[in-house]
Amino acid sequence: MHVFITGISSGIGKAFLEYYLKQDIVVTGIGRTNPQVEGNYSFMECDFSNLSQVKALSLKSEENELLLINNAGTIGAIQRVSNQHVSDLYEVMTVNAISPMLLCQKIIQENPEKKITILNISSGAANRAIPSWAGYCSSKIALDRFSETLQMEEEEKLSDIRVYSVAPGVVDSKMQEKIRSAAPVDFSSLSNFKTLHENNELLSPYLVVSKLVKLLTKENKTHVIYALKDLE
Ligand SMILES: NC(=O)c1ccc[n+]([C@@H]2O[C@H](COP(=O)([O-])OP(=O)(O)OC[C@H]3O[C@@H](n4cnc5c(N)ncnc54)[C@H](OP(=O)(O)O)[C@@H]3O)[C@@H](O)[C@H]2O)c1
Repeated sequence: MHVFITGISSGIGKAFLEYYLKQDIVVTGIGRTNPQVEGNYSFMECDFSNLSQVKALSLKSEENELLLINNAGTIGAIQRVSNQHVSDLYEVMTVNAISPMLLCQKIIQENPEKKITILNISSGAANRAIPSWAGYCSSKIALDRFSETLQMEEEEKLSDIRVYSVAPGVVDSKMQEKIRSAAPVDFSSLSNFKTLHENNELLSPYLVVSKLVKLLTKENKTHVIYALKDLE
């Protein structure tokens, strides 16, 4: 098996990287920052806000079974749309939605006839509007709908491709640190996120990964979209 993981420098992506490096499989990390780990590992540098860099990547593999984990993501500028720069919305949509979509397309086009599993890391924010997260919410619902459409297309073709889009819950990572550092004047939900942290209610990235691995290895796949809280 060959696993491609985006955004491996911290949080969920780093926990995935550590998990798969312990297995006897080929792992390729893709992102801006190389964590410099030991093992059967290679790194492809890419800033997912730069589509030229994304288009230049190759996900071609010699292995017959492939797993793509589209994990890299950004919350963007935590501000109301009226205060944001055009480039803030552009960056969030590009990193969280367009780039993972292109990687899904690439891995399928470059590896015909292979068994491919795609895990897109979505968010509960796909299902509800959160003021000051307009780009983030929009990007994650786009990823969910894309994932469902892609799965239906591949079923029509009878190909061996499984697609998941999973909301991981509120996870203890750099993204949550950034959320808690938002200016109170810009973010009406700030106190909710501070309270979750103070009450130790954030999930460990390692727990998230163990549950996601369990989902990926399940024989019978029933859905495309999952929320971690609904998984065993
Ligand atoms: N934490 C939560 O509560 C939560 C909840 C729901 C969904 N999620 C989703 O979970 C995923 C992982 O986030 P996390 O919580 O583990 O946060 P994190 O620790 O901030 O990790 C984000 C990863 O994405 C990479 N990344 C961000 N922008 C990038 C860019 N332009 N180009 C390349 N890589 C980029 C970061 O790399 P650099 O080191 O180069 O910045 C980092 O490796 C994201 O898709 C996020 O939306 C998180």
